[in-house]
Amino acid sequence: MTNPKKNEPLKFAYWVPNVSGGLVISSIEQRTDWGIDYNRKLAQIAEQNGFEYALSQIRFTAGYGADNQHESVSFSHALLAATEKLRVIAAVLPGPWNPALLAKQIATISHITNGRIDVNIVSGWFRGEFAAIGEPWLDHDERYRRSEEFIRAIRGIWTEDSYNLRGDFYRFTDYSMKPKPLGGIPQIFQGGSSRAARDMAARVSDWYFTNGNTPEGLKAQVDDIRGKERAFGKSWPARIGMNAFGIVRETEQEAKAVLQEVIDKAIPDAVRGFHHEVQNAGNSSPEREGNWAKSTFQDLVQYNDGFRSNLIGTPEQVAERIIAHKRAGADLILMGFLHFQEEVEYFGKKVIPLVRELEAQEAGSLQAAE
Ligand SMILES: Cc1cc2nc3c(=O)[nH]c(=O)nc-3n(C[C@H](O)[C@H](O)[C@H](O)COP(=O)(O)O)c2cc1C
Repeated sequence: MTNPKKNEPLKFAYWVPNVSGGLVISSIEQRTDWGIDYNRKLAQIAEQNGFEYALSQIRFTAGYGADNQHESVSFSHALLAATEKLRVIAAVLPGPWNPALLAKQIATISHITNGRIDVNIVSGWFRGEFAAIGEPWLDHDERYRRSEEFIRAIRGIWTEDSYNLRGDFYRFTDYSMKPKPLGGIPQIFQGGSSRAARDMAARVSDWYFTNGNTPEGLKAQVDDIRGKERAFGKSWPARIGMNAFGIVRETEQEAKAVLQEVIDKAIPDAVRGFHHEVQNAGNSSPEREGNWAKSTFQDLVQYNDGFRSNLIGTPEQVAERIIAHKRAGADLILMGFLHFQEEVEYFGKKVIPLVRELEAQEAGSLQAAE
């Protein structure tokens, strides 16, 4: 079982630029903006052009160009208020958030927004950020143990009355939160690629978000998660979302030239500083298999290894490569761009329809083979 939902249309998400400075550590022009007006319009463009989800980011402090960072839950709420069908995934960091507050906050937002809010539980990679806000720095696997308990707690609060938990991090006693979220439980995403991240996905999460990768690299992670889900007896498969940085242009030459310019204009000190900092993440996991464990200088110019997914070329090339990622197990592709409003629209008009055509062809040949 590689992809449990292989006949379902692939979903598309975009990174909400609620953090300043864009998604590449480069002085190339990035026509984007972290402010609310730009983001409201972007969300509307996205939902009109085939994007089902938006993912906000949580950062408490500056680093590598991200001088300003809007808080994710309130920002996500504002985007939901400006849209009609987009789902917005709010990133949340256990530690600063506790599960009682988050469960309550999200339940209320779900009532205000017709059940369109979801959450992305992140485990933290930025030690300087924890120090700045006085958060104890747990080691890699402890951060995941806390995140897993956090996810169990919010799911329990959202689904049960008289909820009890005697955990190592959180405690609940006969807690009945009301109202429950509108329209069922918000979808629980998580971010990270290490063994601990895969274990957590195979035990408690609805979605596993990972950094950009090749189809082979993605498939290895998906196979591992499926094996673990069987071993742990999880009754629903985690769906898979993968990051990609899109550079889609009329010709392959143009797209490759833009990538080259991004790299040529990379800000070396900032890329090296980011590299140093992310050693606290995947590279510090016991198996050294997490996000950024194998990233090159070029990979690190994009915060989440987005060039490795290779969505850089013509609309036709990019659509074919997206289908290869789907075959490898992706259920969702998370997109970042240089010029968000323009490129979300271009991608939605030029690439997503080609993906739908290829999916229809695949479905036809699958049926013929049955
Ligand atoms: C798609 C995606 C989104 C993420 N968003 C955030 C975020 O908003 N804030 C944050 O602090 N970390 C974020 N992370 C980082 C992860 O939560 C995690 O700390 C990091 O990937 C290292 O985990 P690993 O060692 O399991 O790979 C994100 C990761 C991914 C893949």
